[in-house]
Amino acid sequence: MENHLPHLENVNGQWRLIVDGEPFLILGLQWDCDSCFSAEQMNPLFPHAAKMGANTAALPTYWKEIEPEPGRYDFQMVEERIQQAKAHNMRLVLLWFATWKNASALYAPEYICNDPVTYPLVVDNKGSPSVSLCPSSENTWQRDRTALLALMNYLREHDDTHRVILFQPENEAGVLYTDRCYCATCSQRFAEEKWEERYGVHAAERFSVSSIATYIDRLAEEAKAVYPLPMYTNVWLTTEVGGIPGHYPSGGAVPEVLQQYRNCAPHIDLVGPDIYFFGYRDFHRLCQQYAADGNPLYIAETSSSLNGRAERNVFYAIGQYSAIGFDPWAIDSPAPEDSVPLVDNVGGEWALQAYWLRDSYVAISRAMQPIIQAQGTSRLFTMVQEPGEFGSGWVADGCDVIVQYKDRDNMARGMIIQESKNEFILVGMSYYAQFRRSRPDGRPIPIAHAEWGYYVGDRWVTLHPVRRETLASLGSPVYLQEPGVMRVFLNL
Ligand code: DGJ
Repeated sequence: MENHLPHLENVNGQWRLIVDGEPFLILGLQWDCDSCFSAEQMNPLFPHAAKMGANTAALPTYWKEIEPEPGRYDFQMVEERIQQAKAHNMRLVLLWFATWKNASALYAPEYICNDPVTYPLVVDNKGSPSVSLCPSSENTWQRDRTALLALMNYLREHDDTHRVILFQPENEAGVLYTDRCYCATCSQRFAEEKWEERYGVHAAERFSVSSIATYIDRLAEEAKAVYPLPMYTNVWLTTEVGGIPGHYPSGGAVPEVLQQYRNCAPHIDLVGPDIYFFGYRDFHRLCQQYAADGNPLYIAETSSSLNGRAERNVFYAIGQYSAIGFDPWAIDSPAPEDSVPLVDNVGGEWALQAYWLRDSYVAISRAMQPIIQAQGTSRLFTMVQEPGEFGSGWVADGCDVIVQYKDRDNMARGMIIQESKNEFILVGMSYYAQFRRSRPDGRPIPIAHAEWGYYVGDRWVTLHPVRRETLASLGSPVYLQEPGVMRVFLNL
C-alpha cells in the first residue's frame, strides 16, 4: 500500500504530485470554514464541484469535531468526507483546523479554549493576551499531536482508495496583534538564543517563524510516521509588501521569511500562498516567490469572487509556473465577501464566475497528462488575455505560432503544447492559432488535420474532427471556440 500513497516527485527539476502512481494536477475547490460539520451542509456541494470540473475538494477538518472531549474521538464526518469523495470521483485535501485557524484557536475544542492556564494564549508586548495560542506551550502541542495522530491512524486504516492526497496541518498559522509572544517562556528563549543580536529589527518575527514552524514540523514529523501523506503549510500574506508582523500572523511563511520557515520545517513538503490580491502582477510575483528554491508551487487558496480571476490565474499557475495544483476558496462563500459565491447557498444556482472556472477546469482536465509532461519545458506556451491585449505569439520548435484572441469577450485563455514538429495540442478557449514557417520565411503552414477530443491519461480520445470546410474557410488558423482541447497536425 505504501507504494501507492500520494507523494511528491521531482522529475528534471519539476515537482509532480503522484496519485495512484500517476502525475496529478489538483483542480480544487475549498469549502467554507464551517461547511463540514454536517452532511446536510457539506454533501450537496460535491456534485456542484464535480460539475465545475474540480477533481479535488479541500475540506476543513476540525479538532473540536474529532475530539469533542479529551480522549473521545468521532470520525463519522471524516468517513463522510471519504465516502462523498468516492461517490463523486474526487480527491481530498484535508485542512487541520486545530491550534491555529487564521492564527486563532477558533476550531480547538472547548476544553482547550476554556483553560488558558494549561493551554496559554500568546501575550503581547503590553502583557495582554492575544487571540493566538502560544507556540511554546508543550501542553497544547501534546494535545494537538494526540488528536492529529488519531486522525492519521483513522485515515491509514480507512482511506483504502487514497482519497486524501494532501494534508495541511493548521491553517494560516502565526501570532496575531503582536510580532511575537512575550510570555515568560518565550521571552526567556528569545533572550537566551540571542535573537535580537542575530536579527536586529527583524528578531521578533524571526523568533515567531522559528516557534511556529518548529511546532508544525514536529506535528508533521509524527503524523507522517503514522501515515506519510504529503504535507503543506498555507500562508496569510502581508496585505501589502512590507506589512507589519502581527497585522498578518507573525511567524507565518510570508515571502520575506520563507527560506527560514522551510529550514525550520523539513517535514513540510511545500509552502503554499493564499492569494487574494486582484492584480495579475501580484499573482505572478507570488508564483515566482513560492516556486523558487525548490518549493513545489501550490496555490493553497485564492479568491473565487467575480473579480478574483481564478479562471485565468489557474492557467498562469499551472502553465507558466508549473504548479501542482490550484484551490480557490470557497465554493459556497466568496472572498472578499462583497460578491456572490460560486454556488448559491439557498438554491444552488451558479454565479457567473462558476461557469468561467468550469470552462478552465474542464479544458485543463482534458489534457492533464500532456500538460504535466510539458510543464517547465519550452514545449508549453501559456496565454491569458489581459485588458488591452488582442493576441500573443510563440516561437515554437520549427515554426512560429501566432495567437489571436477572439476580441469580443476579453476572456481568451489557454495553453499550447508542442508534441512534435507537426503536432500541437490546443487547450483553453476563445482564440485562433496560426502556424507559420519560422522567420524569415513567415508563410502560413496549412493544417493537415484537427480534431476535438480529450486525454484519458496519455491516450487521446477523438470527439469529432474539425470539418475540412471550416479549416479551409479559416485559411491556416484553427479556432478554439469552445472550452476544450484540440489536436492539430500541420502539413509541413
Ligand atoms: C483565509 C483562510 O485560510 C480561510 O480559511 C478563510 O478564512 C479565508 N481567508 C476567508 O477570506
